[in-house]
Amino acid sequence: MTHGGNIFEIQRNCNIDKNQLLDYSANINPLGVPQTFKKIMKESLEDIEHYPDIHYDALKTAIEKYYTIDKSHIYLGNGAAEIIFNTIRAIAPKKSILLAPTFSEYAKALNAVDSVIEEVHLKKEDEFSLDMEELIETIDTSTDLVVLCNPNNPTGTLIETKDIVKLLKKCHEKNTYLMIDEAFMDFIEEDKFYSMLHSYKLYPHLIIVRAFTKFYSIPGMRLGFGVCCNEGILKKIYKITPPWNLNTFASYFGKVLLTEEQYVKETYQWLKEEKSRFVTALEKIEGMKTFAPSVNFILIKILKPSMTVDELRDKLLKKGILIRDCSNFNGLDKSYFRIAIKDEASNDILIENLKIVMGK
Ligand SMILES: Cc1ncc(COP(=O)(O)O)c(C=O)c1O
Repeated sequence: MTHGGNIFEIQRNCNIDKNQLLDYSANINPLGVPQTFKKIMKESLEDIEHYPDIHYDALKTAIEKYYTIDKSHIYLGNGAAEIIFNTIRAIAPKKSILLAPTFSEYAKALNAVDSVIEEVHLKKEDEFSLDMEELIETIDTSTDLVVLCNPNNPTGTLIETKDIVKLLKKCHEKNTYLMIDEAFMDFIEEDKFYSMLHSYKLYPHLIIVRAFTKFYSIPGMRLGFGVCCNEGILKKIYKITPPWNLNTFASYFGKVLLTEEQYVKETYQWLKEEKSRFVTALEKIEGMKTFAPSVNFILIKILKPSMTVDELRDKLLKKGILIRDCSNFNGLDKSYFRIAIKDEASNDILIENLKIVMGK
C-alpha cells in the first residue's frame, strides 16, 4: 500500500470490517472532527444545491486572520495533495531535489511533469536529520525546485527556520524555487522556530503548503492551502486550478478556524502528555528502535534480524491493528514502520500487542 489510512482497501482485500480497525497508519488527530464543523455541515446541508463562492472569500479571510498572512497570497486546494500537484505543475521544474525518505507524492507530482529528481539522503546515523550544508551544495543553476517536508513524513525530523533562511539565500542566487510542505506544522505549538509562515513575504522563491487534514481530523473533507508572495507563480497556479475546487462544506471551514480555540488547546495538551508517555512505553519494547517524534507520528525500526515489517504488519492486522509499512519510502527498507499517536487507551492496546508480537 502506498499510503497510510486506506481502511477501505484493507476491508476489501483482507475482509476486515473497517470500523473494527485500530488505524495507526494515518496520522490524524484523535480528538476527531471539531464539534462546530459537524454542526455547520448539518446546518448547511441544503447549501449543496448551490455552487460554493468561487472566490472562497470567507475561508481566505479566516485563514488570513488566523495565521496573519495576506489573503491575496493564499490559494486553496482539495487537500494539501492538490496544492502540491498544482504548484509543481505551475513551476514545471526540469530538475528538482527531494529528500529521501520523504512523502511519496512529491515524486509522483514531479514525475507527472517529467522532472529529473536528485535525492539528498537523510541518514539513520544522524537520526534522519537534514545536513543543510549538503543540500545547499547540491543546488546549482540547473536546479529549478527543492521540496522539503517540515516536519518530515515519515521521519518526524524538523528543520529550523535559521537553516531554511540559508537555503533560501542559495535558492535566490540560483533562481531555484523552494516548496516546503508544512502539513503537520499545526501540531507544533511554538512553531516560530520551524514554520516559514511568519516570514514568507521576504522570499519570492518560497511556496508553503499547509493542510487542515491532520490537525482537524478531516482527511475526507479534502482541504489545504498554499502560501506564496510571488505574483507570477500565483498567476500560473490560478491558471491551472479548476473553478470550485473546494466543496461547500470545506468553504465554511473558516468559521471552525476562528472559533475552535478549545479544540486547539486540548490537542496540544493531549499531544504533550501522550507523546512522552507513549514513547517511553515504546522504548521499553525490545527489538525495535523508536525515533524521537516531533509531532503526532513515530518512525520505528525493527532491530530483530528475523522479523520484517510484512510479518509484523500481518500479525498486528490479525489483531485488528493497522500500521504503516514504510518499506516503499525511498531510503527505508523492510525494517521500518510508522505509527500515529492516538488516545491513551488505543495506544495501550498497541503497546500490549507490540509486546506480544515482538516476543516480549
Ligand atoms: C506530508 C504530507 N503532506 C501532504 C499530505 C496530503 O494531505 P491532504 O490529505 O491534505 O491532501 C500528506 C498526507 O499524508 C502528508 O503526509
